Amino acid sequence: MKALVYHGAGKKAWEEKPKPTLLDPSDAIIKISKTTICGTDLHILKGDVPEVTDGRILGHEGVGVVEEVGSAVTEFKKGDRVLISCITSCGKCEYCKKGMYSHCEKGGWILGHLIDGTQAEYVRIPFADNSLYHIPKDADEEALVMLSDILPTAYECGVLNGQVKPGDTVVIVGAGPIGLAVLITAQFYTPAAIIMVDVDDNRLQVAKSFGATHVINSNNENGIEKIMQLTDSRGVDVAVEAVGIPATFELCQSVIAAGGHIANVGVHGKSVSLHLETLWSKNITITTRLVDTVSTPLLLKTVVSKKVDPSKLITHHFALADIISAYEAFGNAAKEKTLKVILTND
Ligand SMILES: NC(=O)c1ccc[n+]([C@@H]2O[C@H](COP(=O)([O-])OP(=O)(O)OC[C@H]3O[C@@H](n4cnc5c(N)ncnc54)[C@H](O)[C@@H]3O)[C@@H](O)[C@H]2O)c1
Ligand SMILES: [Zn+2]
Ligand SMILES: [Zn+2]
Repeated sequence: MKALVYHGAGKKAWEEKPKPTLLDPSDAIIKISKTTICGTDLHILKGDVPEVTDGRILGHEGVGVVEEVGSAVTEFKKGDRVLISCITSCGKCEYCKKGMYSHCEKGGWILGHLIDGTQAEYVRIPFADNSLYHIPKDADEEALVMLSDILPTAYECGVLNGQVKPGDTVVIVGAGPIGLAVLITAQFYTPAAIIMVDVDDNRLQVAKSFGATHVINSNNENGIEKIMQLTDSRGVDVAVEAVGIPATFELCQSVIAAGGHIANVGVHGKSVSLHLETLWSKNITITTRLVDTVSTPLLLKTVVSKKVDPSKLITHHFALADIISAYEAFGNAAKEKTLKVILTND
C-alpha cells in the first residue's frame, strides 16, 4: 500500500509500505476513505516530537471501512463504516475507567506517533471496540473527519473545562481549526458574547461568520485594552487559550474576571509566567487537558442531527495520493487560507 512516511525532521515521502496485519485479537484493519492533516503533524515534521521515529506513517484522524477484525473484536465486522478516534483506549485500565482515555496505559495518543497512523491506504487500530465509532447511515463522512480530533479537543479542553454557561462572556485566543471549533461548540451553551483574538484577518472573518460577536487582531490593536473595554473593565468569564505560546496564555491571565476559568488547549513548548500576584484573590481556575475523546458519541449526535456542521472547517480537498500538495497548502495556511484539508482515498 501507499502511505505518508516520516523520515526525520523536515523529511517525508509518499511511498510503498507493507499493508498492516492483525497483531492482537483486539485489532481491526481499516481501509481509509478520508483523512486529514493536523497542526500536530507539522510539529512532528519540524522535529518537535522526538518519540516519532524514522519510518513512521503519520496521521491520527480519519474515517474508513473495516477490512478485517481480530477474534476479540465484538462490536465491528468487515464492511462497517467507521470513525477513527485520535485516542486509542483499552477501556479497562485505571485511567480508561475514569474516562481519561488520553492517559490509557496501553493506548492514548499513539496513532501516527508511536504506531503507524491514518495517512495511508490502510491502518491497524488497536482496541478497536473502544477506539472506533460506527458511522450512522446518511452521515456526512467529511464532517465526521472533524470528530477524530478537532471537535472533541475543542469541546473537552476548551468548552467543558472552561465551564461555558448561558450569558457568559468568552474569549477564544487563536482562530485556527481548534479555536474555531471551540467557537462552534461553545454556542451549545448560548454565551452572551464570544470574542475571538488572532493575528490573521482571514481567520477572524471566518470566526465572524461562525458566530463570534467581536474579533480582535492583536497585531493591530491592544488585545487586553480592547477586551477590558468590551467588558466594562470586568474581564471575561471564560478565556480559552488555543495557540500554545506564552503571550497568548498571558493575555488570558490579564483578562480573566473574578470567578472566571482559563482553559488551556494549546500545546506549549516554553514555560509561561503564572501571575499569582494578581490572580491569588480572583477565585479563578486554570485547567489543562489532553483530549480524551469521551465526548465523541455526544458530538456525533449533534453532527448527525445537523445541530452543528463541522464541515464548514474544510477549505481544501485533495486525493490521498496528492498528500504532499495537501501538506503544502496546510503548511502555508495564512497564504492559502487553509483551515482543514480532506484527503480522499479513491
Ligand atoms: N490539548 C490537546 O489535546 C490538543 C489537541 C490538538 C491540538 N492542540 C493544540 O491546540 C492549538 C491550536 O491548534 P490549531 O490546529 O488550531 O493550530 P493553528 O496553528 O492552526 O492555529 C493557531 C492560531 O493562532 C494564531 N496565533 C498565532 N500567534 C498568535 C498571537 N500572538 N495572538 C493571537 N493569535 C495567534 C494563528 O494565526 C492561528 O490562527 C495548538 O497549540 C495545538 O497543538 C491541543
Ligand atoms: Zn491532531
Ligand atoms: Zn486503558
